[in-house]
Amino acid sequence: MKLLTLSLLAASPAAARSYLSWMADSWILNNGEHEGPYWYGRATVYEGYEAAYSLYGNETLLDWYHSQIDDLVAPDGSIVDFNETYYSLDDYRIGNNFLYWYERIGVEKYRLAADRIRAMLDRHPRTPTGGFWHRDPTYENQMWLDGIFMADVFYAKWTALFDAQNVTAWEDIVLQWDKIEAVTRDEPTGLLVHGFDESKTAVWADPVDGASPLVWNRAVGWYFVSLIEVLDVYPKHLDGYQRLLSYYKTLARSLLHAQDPKVHGWKLILSKGYVNRKGNYFESSAAAMFTYGWLAGLRRGYIDERTYGRPAARAYNHLIDDFVTKHQNGTLTWEGTVQVGSLNSDASFEYYTGIPVVPNDTRGVGPFLLASYEWELRRKRS
Ligand SMILES: *[C@@H]1O[C@H](CO)[C@@H](O)[C@H](O)[C@H]1NC(C)=O
Ligand SMILES: *[C@@H]1O[C@H](CO)[C@@H](O)[C@H](O)[C@H]1NC(C)=O
Ligand SMILES: *[C@@H]1O[C@H](CO)[C@@H](O)[C@H](O)[C@H]1NC(C)=O
Ligand SMILES: *[C@@H]1O[C@H](CO)[C@@H](O)[C@H](O)[C@H]1NC(C)=O
Ligand SMILES: *[C@@H]1O[C@H](CO)[C@@H](O)[C@H](O)[C@H]1NC(C)=O
Repeated sequence: MKLLTLSLLAASPAAARSYLSWMADSWILNNGEHEGPYWYGRATVYEGYEAAYSLYGNETLLDWYHSQIDDLVAPDGSIVDFNETYYSLDDYRIGNNFLYWYERIGVEKYRLAADRIRAMLDRHPRTPTGGFWHRDPTYENQMWLDGIFMADVFYAKWTALFDAQNVTAWEDIVLQWDKIEAVTRDEPTGLLVHGFDESKTAVWADPVDGASPLVWNRAVGWYFVSLIEVLDVYPKHLDGYQRLLSYYKTLARSLLHAQDPKVHGWKLILSKGYVNRKGNYFESSAAAMFTYGWLAGLRRGYIDERTYGRPAARAYNHLIDDFVTKHQNGTLTWEGTVQVGSLNSDASFEYYTGIPVVPNDTRGVGPFLLASYEWELRRKRS
């Protein structure tokens, strides 16, 4: 197995240069950022820079990241142009980056900004059984896989830093994952459908459990990453930890079955009977998140090298071979990311596959940086 891994590495273009620093440099040079300030995609790209800095200690990268985030937070901790009575889980993701800067440099305004987002969670509307609505208005009583990544990881990180002994908080946190698992786990594939409506009134809601109909790969990607992130901070002695770990392992295994045996990637819609339908295609953001989730789980010992080492290496090569464009000027572009996917739709195959595929998308670039970070650590170990 060791030999096999090594030969795959040698054959890989990734052996030549770190795509982590290359893509991070390219993103700055090509000025890829053109989305609103609190957009969760930017938060995800910044997480990639956190990873790059932790590995290389390149102050230029860190300074760039700081310059991007510093203006978002006023000296009193208020967040510029941020509506604190607009309850949308997507907007909470940036709280993780505020916590990073608070921990990194100890500047109080970042903690105050994170506290403001944490306070919004206390006011955020919930379903009758305690799940955070994806958004108020529009997505009343709905929980999406995406929201777990956007808000509940932040809830967990904030609690680990400032309220770690509060068992009530930890139980409230794991409840969000439990609720998602209870309804959205898709029997035939072991993957998860996009979300559910506890009131069962959405046009797409299953009349019995409220589940949406299809497995949309990006939502599963956010969710897979959320499991890695929450396991890093969830107290191991509490019951919830073992459940989270089992959710991770079950999903890791199901992704193995869903990985295409030739391309080594994943189609946009992964529901049984849909994978080979006309219009379905290999999408890049979820592929990066699945690759990251496997590599991160391997390094942490959640899954074993024998089963996952080779599929993960092949998935990483798929990212490089199929989604990274090298320009003549030496910069890279990340390609092939689906722009959005929303349950503000009929959630049909035609809806999801009709959304444009775009280059330079934060929601692909960020996960690719993270996958490349894990890849570099793996190269160092071998
Ligand atoms: C640090 O990052 C900058 C900006 O991306 C890049 O130009 C430079 O080559 C990097 N330095 C090192 C030593 O990697
Ligand atoms: C590099 O080339 C690409 C493709 O032509 C272009 O879009 C990009 O702006 C260039 N970047 C720089 C820094 O010149
Ligand atoms: C976005 O992608 C296109 C197509 O690959 C590329 O030409 C362009 O340089 C990219 N722009 C940025 C800002 O990276
Ligand atoms: C903030 O969001 C709430 C809820 O959507 C809305 O009623 C209010 O007008 C918004 N405030 C501003 C200043 O946009
Ligand atoms: C513990 O956490 C819960 C849920 O987040 C919160 O409502 C409660 O105020 C916290 N208790 C203390 C003592 O801070």
